[in-house]
Amino acid sequence: MQEESSRTRKKSSNVVWHQTGISKQDREKRNGHRGIVLWLTGLPSSGKSTIATELQAQVFEKGCQVYILDGDNIRHGLNGDLGFSPQDREENIRRIGEVAKLFADSGFIAMTSFISPYRKDRNRARSLMKEGEFIEVFVKTDVSECERRDPKGLYKKARSGQIPEFTGISAPYEEPQSPEITVDTEKHSKEECAKIILDYLMEKNIIQC
Ligand code: ADX
Repeated sequence: MQEESSRTRKKSSNVVWHQTGISKQDREKRNGHRGIVLWLTGLPSSGKSTIATELQAQVFEKGCQVYILDGDNIRHGLNGDLGFSPQDREENIRRIGEVAKLFADSGFIAMTSFISPYRKDRNRARSLMKEGEFIEVFVKTDVSECERRDPKGLYKKARSGQIPEFTGISAPYEEPQSPEITVDTEKHSKEECAKIILDYLMEKNIIQC
């Protein structure tokens, strides 16, 4: 049983789930593909957003309903009240797990692009979904390569002490132990990484054509 923090303990009572008449299966049938969560995790600058963007373009081109929930974007709005302490990251991922589930329930291929450094937080997001509907993608890039890329100059700032609790430098990243897919960005281009994921989706009949 997952331990709940005071922040996530349920406070709503006297609420009953309302069935809205159109099922997830109805939506999947109309879309011609499954509604799932594709969860990308990896270090800052590992290539999560780049690969998600490339894959989204390919999947959209096939006529699928697809949307990217991206850490940097979501932190502008919905999660703009959260920082980078372990507790805030936990809450960040808890909310996104719930939002991604809603997207999947609406028939979308919901792609998430968050560092999501803690195994237990990713596993909680997984536990919201049925077997086979949560696909964890480990975007594997060595921290030295991420630091070499550093497109936003954040590693540099973290090294000079301007950013505390920076993942990979002064905050932990727990690698997935058994992700459904691993893409190694030091061996493969973004197009190849996207193809590895797309092939998996087709092999599992999540996307048919
Ligand atoms: S997570 O750890 O809570 O999953 P998330 O993916 O939402 O992180 O946000 C990561 C983005 O925030 C990074 O791409 C980077 O641009 C920015 N960022 C700012 N401060 C930090 C920090 N201390 N650690 C990691 N990323 C940070």
